[in-house]
Amino acid sequence: MKYSVQRYIEGRRPTRDEFARLARAEVRAVRNQLSEMPLSELCAPSVPWPADGDTRGVFLRFVEADEQLFELHKDELAEIFDAVGLLLPGGPMAWSRAAADSLVSRRHELIHADIKDDNTIMDRMGRLTIIDYGNAVPGDPDLEYAIVDHRTMGPILPNNLRSPNRPVYDGFLCDQRVLHDAIKLSLHDLSPGQRRAIHEGYRSSLVSFRKRAGLRSTRRPGSLDYDKLVDLMQRHNARLQRDRAGNPPAV
Ligand SMILES: Nc1ncnc2c1ncn2[C@@H]1O[C@H](COP(=O)(O)OP(=O)(O)OP(=O)(O)O)[C@@H](O)[C@H]1O
Ligand SMILES: [Mg+2]
Repeated sequence: MKYSVQRYIEGRRPTRDEFARLARAEVRAVRNQLSEMPLSELCAPSVPWPADGDTRGVFLRFVEADEQLFELHKDELAEIFDAVGLLLPGGPMAWSRAAADSLVSRRHELIHADIKDDNTIMDRMGRLTIIDYGNAVPGDPDLEYAIVDHRTMGPILPNNLRSPNRPVYDGFLCDQRVLHDAIKLSLHDLSPGQRRAIHEGYRSSLVSFRKRAGLRSTRRPGSLDYDKLVDLMQRHNARLQRDRAGNPPAV
């Protein structure tokens, strides 16, 4: 049998550094395998999926997922979203939506779409295995590379092997980080030792997002940065706690 269900792998989750060091080689190997998977023989995605070559259609599915996430939180987190610049007329994904039109059609392959440290296991020999294909869909393999590069802060493929779609994916992933980190802040303990909830790339993503969105850069460099956001979130959480104390949940 050529393909089988993934076996149980004994090991542990790698540290971020181990992941960053080992991911590139493993991702290349996994992509080689996934590129050979016959899509027609796999079970169909649970929702109707864009046809092979509709690279724009697949990208817009990813964009829509973030638009829904934004809608879900926009009332409760309005103040934070506003401070960051996410309350744009066309929504926070307006740039990505427009940029989708410039994507070139590519032959789709199975993409994992969520390769990150907690979806990998490192065995005793120090080998890394990618697990959790729960989000896998047919799509542009360059989106996969863009996602991993974005998370590991280093390129898997050299520039000359990347598709022309790459700048669109990179822009989208930056905007997505700004949105996700603004939401994540509201869920995390913001005491000084716990502030790593925010990705190291947050500041540069924020600058790049505001530039793409046509927002004026802040008057003082860094005035709309991480610390300001943490401060806003702390006040937000304190308010939430006061509200909850005043409205105890029904028992
Ligand atoms: N093939 C495997 N071999 C060994 N352990 C596995 C395997 N697949 C999953 N696990 C274990 O189960 C955990 C959750 O699996 P997975 O990432 O597939 O699901 P998930 O829906 O993302 O769950 P979670 O919400 O916990 O992240 C993994 O972190 C890992 O510890
Ligand atoms: Mg998982």
